[in-house]
Amino acid sequence: MKVDLQKKFGLDVPIFAFSHCRDVVVEVTRAGGFGVLGAVMFPPEKLEEELAWIDSHVDGRPYGVDMLLPVTYDSEAEQTSAPLQTLIPQGHRDFVDRVLTEAGIPPLPKDQADILNAHIKAREKNGTPAGARQLVEVALRHPQIKMFVSGLGPMPADLVRELHSRDIVVGALCGKASHVERHRAAGTDVLIAQGTEAGGHTGKVSTMVLVPQVVAAAKGEMAVLAAGGISSGGQILASQAMGADGVWMGTVWLGTVESELTPFEREVLYKAAAEDAVQSKVLSGKSVRLLRSKFSDAWEGPDAPAYLKPPLQGLLFLEARARIDRAQRGDYYSSPAGQVAGTLTHETSVRDVMLRLLTEYADAAERLQTVMPA
Ligand SMILES: Cc1cc2nc3c(=O)[nH]c(=O)nc-3n(C[C@H](O)[C@H](O)[C@H](O)COP(=O)(O)O)c2cc1C
Repeated sequence: MKVDLQKKFGLDVPIFAFSHCRDVVVEVTRAGGFGVLGAVMFPPEKLEEELAWIDSHVDGRPYGVDMLLPVTYDSEAEQTSAPLQTLIPQGHRDFVDRVLTEAGIPPLPKDQADILNAHIKAREKNGTPAGARQLVEVALRHPQIKMFVSGLGPMPADLVRELHSRDIVVGALCGKASHVERHRAAGTDVLIAQGTEAGGHTGKVSTMVLVPQVVAAAKGEMAVLAAGGISSGGQILASQAMGADGVWMGTVWLGTVESELTPFEREVLYKAAAEDAVQSKVLSGKSVRLLRSKFSDAWEGPDAPAYLKPPLQGLLFLEARARIDRAQRGDYYSSPAGQVAGTLTHETSVRDVMLRLLTEYADAAERLQTVMPA
């Protein structure tokens, strides 16, 4: 039976916020929405810390966690006990070094490289199925987490059974109507119909086309959240008009002061146009919508090597990103963001965004009254 998300979670507004930043999760949840922490960035011990902090700041309200439980990966990466960075071919390293050196972006000093390598080592297996399971174990220790979401394909059946036995709602991102049956078979409760406009791993179908298709395929048996390209109250109303039970937003929070982005990174975001958010495999080896830069363009050039499989491409990207961030080179900076980036022009706060969404929602509803035939 379809879960009534607003009732089950006691939400004032059906706004689900995906973020890698605990402050965003807390602020949205406290404002009456539902924050979901993306876990993939964190080593297990750090995830434990972040979740404990969220537990103590959401006034007892429920919140969610998102995992990447990949179906395809470099199996060598899963099985080896050697640092995964050693599996990155030297030719790929040389290519990155050449692109950055030619741009005048220096290597990291040894102490900073050591810190980065320790960080990478601590979280390098998060992108493998076994590594993701470790994060699941950490999240299961936090009973205020009432929704688990899988970002890449349906969750494994045994995990779904475990979550349901704890009365935890199971969500999954879905970029194609033809994937709905797979999610139904896996026991998914909530389909997050994510259109190609979205930041992060995306498919090819736009939100406007995808949402009604997923709603129809769900047959009223699974809840549907609309995702991808949503940054205004009018779009929330439109999503509901298309049959969605709420919205799931990611990029809009990146522009807030609470987000994980540094001031330098946020400035790059504010300057971006919608069309600067392109699909590229540079970040993870899979198609991710991100801010285009000279670095992502270089990977499309004739002398670029083939993208590595996840999680190796992601590790190589992290090393390059650290160099680019340190040099504060906005022209080489790429980071996941959706087409909503084009609407973000200055610093806001989560509270500002929530208030704006509600005001725009009310305005849009009023406007509809005047345009609907009597
Ligand atoms: C910076 C960033 C990182 C993301 N990382 C993940 C992730 O780790 N797992 C996931 O399921 N979705 C991820 N997404 C996608 C979001 O869950 C969400 O579907 C998307 O942001 C919605 O579209 P929007 O960006 O247009 O709001 C990410 C999105 C952004 C912007």
